[in-house]
Amino acid sequence: MSRLQNKVAVITGGTSGIGLAAAQRFVAEGAFVYIFGRRQKELDKTVASIGRNVAGVQGDVRKFEDLDRLHAKVASDGRKIDVVVANVGTVNSVKLADVLPRSQRLRRLQDRTALLCQDLDDGAQGPRHPGQHDHSGSLRHAAD
Ligand SMILES: NC(=O)c1ccc[n+]([C@@H]2O[C@H](COP(=O)([O-])OP(=O)(O)OC[C@H]3O[C@@H](n4cnc5c(N)ncnc54)[C@H](OP(=O)(O)O)[C@@H]3O)[C@@H](O)[C@H]2O)c1
Repeated sequence: MSRLQNKVAVITGGTSGIGLAAAQRFVAEGAFVYIFGRRQKELDKTVASIGRNVAGVQGDVRKFEDLDRLHAKVASDGRKIDVVVANVGTVNSVKLADVLPRSQRLRRLQDRTALLCQDLDDGAQGPRHPGQHDHSGSLRHAAD
């Protein structure tokens, strides 16, 4: 099979997991693949293990200048990108205290506590019938 013959792909996070599996498959299908990740050592290892039609570009998807460098590298190699696999997802974690007012934080705590108590109660009494599984009473109580 060579469904990606002569295609050029960029795969972010291509050194492990889903991105690595995609990179291996893309190369097997005939593509030239640029893998992008933060750790140069991992990039080097991955490029060596795939062995052909692959190049590593070091960078962080959160940095526009790194993405510009990736684009420039592909262009300077005389290639054009056909496929982008935007595999890396990032999250910015924040503390509840920074985003919710105190009253809402307390409400969430009460709701969680009520659910936890209900689950413990369910465990003590054995499983209920599906129609009886209703947390609303406890939640209403906690929100009062
Ligand atoms: N596996 C799941 O069950 C699952 C579920 C939902 C979502 N996801 C998302 O799907 C993506 C792939 O998952 P996975 O399990 O295959 O991940 P993984 O095995 O942890 O691999 C992550 C890859 O992304 C690279 N990477 C991480 N942060 C990066 C950044 N800021 N800039 C550039 N490269 C970065 C890593 O290399 P470096 O560390 O060297 O940068 C590595 O190559 C992840 O973004 C994950 O959040 C996965």
